[in-house]
Amino acid sequence: MATDHAARWAWMREHTPATKRYVYLNAGFCGARTIEVSDAMKRRIDLEMEIGPTTKESMDDRADLTKRLRIATAQMMGADVDEIAITGNTTEGVNIGVNGVALQAGDRVVTTNIEHGGGMIPAYWTRRKYGTEVTIVPIEHGNGSGEMVERFDQAIDDKTKLVILSEISYATGQTLPLAEIVRLAHARGATVVVDGAQTGGHIPIDAHALGVDVYAIPAHKWLCGPEGLGMLYVRRDRIADLDPVKVSGRAAASYDFAGHFEAKQGDVTKFEVSTNSTPVVAGTLQAVEQYLESGPDAVWDRVRELTHYGEDRIGGIAGVELTGGRTDSTRSGLFFFSVPGVDPAFITGYLQGEAHVVCRSVKQAGSVRLSMHVYNTEAEVETVAELIAKVAKDGNVPEQYRVAAGPVEG
Ligand SMILES: Cc1ncc(COP(=O)(O)O)c(C=O)c1O
Repeated sequence: MATDHAARWAWMREHTPATKRYVYLNAGFCGARTIEVSDAMKRRIDLEMEIGPTTKESMDDRADLTKRLRIATAQMMGADVDEIAITGNTTEGVNIGVNGVALQAGDRVVTTNIEHGGGMIPAYWTRRKYGTEVTIVPIEHGNGSGEMVERFDQAIDDKTKLVILSEISYATGQTLPLAEIVRLAHARGATVVVDGAQTGGHIPIDAHALGVDVYAIPAHKWLCGPEGLGMLYVRRDRIADLDPVKVSGRAAASYDFAGHFEAKQGDVTKFEVSTNSTPVVAGTLQAVEQYLESGPDAVWDRVRELTHYGEDRIGGIAGVELTGGRTDSTRSGLFFFSVPGVDPAFITGYLQGEAHVVCRSVKQAGSVRLSMHVYNTEAEVETVAELIAKVAKDGNVPEQYRVAAGPVEG
């Protein structure tokens, strides 16, 4: 780890108060915020309280924050500013992409077996609504990029109109070879909608280089912004032909109250419905700027370095199985393991109860998931490893932790 980066990660840790009381390994669920993100939100809340939300100063501030958020997001995603819409969350963005494509009975929709419900259900819904055929590409955690490309190659045919996939799977932590999959899909006439819930703030994204059609990310996970906002990239030449799901005056180029209406065509704001929370915009902007300041490549290197450490340390414990992406091209900051025979939800309860370790289990993967972010340390991985060694040795967690999964499990 280069010293300038080490200093940055120490700064991030120092400015993320949750790390003082907890071993916070849950950015894949919701990231821990810095003091600066929180302050940006408080400033806007106070401004609205002190002078009212619709005074000129407040309105100018709102316009400025929103404009800057589009600019910073475009920079972060390798996109142009007028390809970025502000949405409510990743899933809303995925739905905009999926429902924007004109589908009919017999069209094929391709997705994978390692998607979150936020991608899986929109895929199934096209079957329910239009009678599409949903093809599920099987992926195992040990697969490398080449195997994944081969499976997509087999699944995507000329009937395929839509491919819905995560660039990083929430269920295995694997990074998928998106650029190659996009090339295959486009050669066969399909639109690619990317669920980027696990990538924004985690992996460098270059939407133009990927050639992807639609790419949705949230503020609240790896970006460590607030909950309640998402950003959506729509490739310039796809904006006009994707039909918005929910519409308001923002989808109209012009209209009157006597029957005249003209729809916006190539303007990405047609996908934005109505009012959002300006304090949340302020916090998200701070989070994106902070991420850009850290440097997407440096963040990506550091999170995988921690995962590597976890593989050596936790993977070296007898009785522990590693269940995430393991190759250089598939590994991410999402680290997965299981102790066969022990419910992973019991393990997360045990970790939090014994050592304030916050992480989650993923039932779909039968695993515990640690989200390694730049505010985490090798010493924290050690803390987890010591407890997991006890679980593996005893064959279970102590009795009091053998309770049903709470709301953050599943
Ligand atoms: C892969 C994936 N997709 C979608 C979601 C839902 O994200 P959002 O709350 O931004 O809609 C999650 C959250 O856990 C996720 O991991």
